[in-house]
Amino acid sequence: MSHIIAPSLLSADFANLGRDIEMINNSQADWFHIDVMDGLFVPNISFGFPIIKYIQKYAKKPMDVHLMIMDPDRYLMQFKEVGADIITVHYEAVTHLHRTVQLMKSLDVQAGVVLNPHTNVILLEDIIADLDVVLLMSVNPGYGGQSFIENTYSKISKLKDLIIQKNSKAIIEVDGGVGIHNIKKLVDTGANALVAGNAVFGAENPVEMIKQLKEV
Ligand code: DX5
Ligand code: ZN
Repeated sequence: MSHIIAPSLLSADFANLGRDIEMINNSQADWFHIDVMDGLFVPNISFGFPIIKYIQKYAKKPMDVHLMIMDPDRYLMQFKEVGADIITVHYEAVTHLHRTVQLMKSLDVQAGVVLNPHTNVILLEDIIADLDVVLLMSVNPGYGGQSFIENTYSKISKLKDLIIQKNSKAIIEVDGGVGIHNIKKLVDTGANALVAGNAVFGAENPVEMIKQLKEV
């Protein structure tokens, strides 16, 4: 299977969100990446349920909801209700991760865990077999348009080994600073899904950029 491209709507033009959703519908992109920030876990606030509900109304591809919020258990059901297909929660924002993952499974969404750049992949050793997705942050979460952290390659390799060792079906997603300059190396190292915000929405021709990111 070729790698998944998930454009991040955080970099979309919110005054023309319908147009940008339609652009993704008509492109080779695979998922919509939706960044939810609470101003507590990360220093920024993005958007919440009303906006996501509207995205769902027009989006014709799966919605990958990245929760940068403290104690996400409180809202998992509501994210399911507004259309989340994949939900990822931060390892650093959850106390009882096993319980949170079981809750996601009971809601019939794909269950994912996100690691900040400083968080070691080995911490997932006892939960990896239950996960559908592991999202590695390749920038510190909170903002689009930041520079890619090079240590991510070594984390992808370690995570890939852990997935094989534990016979997990989890896919590896990478988020932050991904673009045409590094996507081939990321895929070659083992990334299965790539989030791209600025690279897509900052491009002169976003559809063509998605095509290029898809066809490396
Ligand atoms: C950052 C978000 C990312 C962001 C990526 O906290 O999780 O999804 O939108 O943006 P780029 O691709 O511009 O780094
Ligand atoms: Zn994200």
